[in-house]
Amino acid sequence: MSHFKLQTYKKTKVLVTGSTGFKGAWLCFWLHLLGAKVIGVALKPEKGSIIFREFSLGKKIKQYILDIRNFRNLNHVVKKEKPDIIFHLAAQSVVSESFINPLETISTNVLGSTNILEAVKTNRIKHLVYITSDKCYLNDSRKGSYLENDILGGKDLYSASKACAELTFKAYYQSFFSKNKKISLATTRAGNVIGGGDMKKDRIVPDVIKSLKHKTPLIIRNPYATRPWQHVLEPVSGYLKLGELIINQKIPNTIIPNWNFGPDIQNNKTVLQVVKNIILSWGIKKQIIISKTKKFKEDKLLMISNKKAKKELNWSPSLNFQETIGLTVEWYKSYLMRNNLEKLTRKQIEFFYDK
Ligand SMILES: NC(=O)c1ccc[n+]([C@@H]2O[C@H](COP(=O)([O-])OP(=O)(O)OC[C@H]3O[C@@H](n4cnc5c(N)ncnc54)[C@H](O)[C@@H]3O)[C@@H](O)[C@H]2O)c1
Repeated sequence: MSHFKLQTYKKTKVLVTGSTGFKGAWLCFWLHLLGAKVIGVALKPEKGSIIFREFSLGKKIKQYILDIRNFRNLNHVVKKEKPDIIFHLAAQSVVSESFINPLETISTNVLGSTNILEAVKTNRIKHLVYITSDKCYLNDSRKGSYLENDILGGKDLYSASKACAELTFKAYYQSFFSKNKKISLATTRAGNVIGGGDMKKDRIVPDVIKSLKHKTPLIIRNPYATRPWQHVLEPVSGYLKLGELIINQKIPNTIIPNWNFGPDIQNNKTVLQVVKNIILSWGIKKQIIISKTKKFKEDKLLMISNKKAKKELNWSPSLNFQETIGLTVEWYKSYLMRNNLEKLTRKQIEFFYDK
C-alpha cells in the first residue's frame, strides 16, 4: 500500500462512529498514528472490545458514548465537534442477531444511519464515508461478483438493513448533496473481514479462537459457504484512501459514490478452508465438527468486484490469503500469551503500509 501516504489526516478532525467495535477501533488507532484528531461515537465498549480496552483508545481519542438512534444527542456532538470528515461504522453488525432482534437491527442500521445523514446535512459537514456491507446486494445466486450498480436487497434483516441504509443514502445524496460541489460523500461495501480484535459471537474467526482458548469443541455450521475474506487492514485502508481523495476533492462527481472494497478472487474461500488454515497456521491439532443444524439460512456464494476501486481510486488489496490468515493468527496468539498488543498492531499496520 506504499503507493499512498495518507498525509491528509495529520491534524484533520475525524469523527468515527462505531469506534468501540472491531473495524472502528482499527480505523481510530490508525488515524491516531497518522496524527489525526479523532472523535469516537459508539455504545459502551463491550467485553469483547479488546482493541478499545487494551490500547486505552478512549484516552487517545475523544470518545462519546451515545446511541446514534437518538438524533438529538448525535446532532449535538456533530454540531459541537464540526469534524472535517465522518466515517460511519456504527451498526448492529451480526447476521444471526438480526433474527433475534430484528427491530434493533433496523432501528440502528437504517434509522441510526439516516440520523448520520441528517446530522451531516444539518451541520453542513463536507465529507462522509458511510460503511454498509457486501450483503446490501440482492443475492440472485449468481456465480460472478456483484458490481456497485447492482440491485440492492436482502432476504434476511441484516442484509435488508444494509440495503435500506444504502437507499436512504442515495435519496439524501440526490435530494440534498449531489449538486453541492463542496460536499462529497460515499458509501462502501467490504467483504468478510477478519483480523485481530474481533470477539463478536457467531463470526467464524472469533468462534475458532474461543474454541482454541477454552479447549471446547470446534463446531462449524456452513462449511461450504464461499465468502470474500479479507484482513481488516484492507477495507480500512480503502476507507482512508477514499476519505483522503474525498477531502482533497479528487473524485469527479460524475462517478457514482459507491465503492466495493473486496479482496481479489483468490481470497474467495469456503468457511472450512478458512478454519483449516487458521488451525494449520496456529500449529496445533484440532478436530473440526460439522454441524447438520443451521441457525439460519445463508446464501452459498457472495463475491464483490473490486475493479472500480482499483481503476478509479488506485486502491488494491495488499495481502494474499496466507498473509491474511497469518496476521490474524499472530494477533490472537499474542492476545492469548498476553503480549503487547498495541506494539504488535502498530507493527502489523507498518508491515501493511510497506507492502
Ligand atoms: N466485520 C465484518 O466482517 C463486516 C463486513 C462487512 C460490513 N461490516 C460493517 O462494518 C461496520 C463495522 O463492523 P464491525 O465488525 O466493526 O462491527 P462491531 O459490531 O464490532 O462494532 C459495531 C460498533 O457500532 C457501535 N454501535 C452499535 N449500535 C450502536 C448504536 N445504536 N449507537 C451507537 N453506536 C452503536 C458499537 O458500539 C460498536 O462500536 C458495520 O457497519 C458492519 O455492518 C462488517
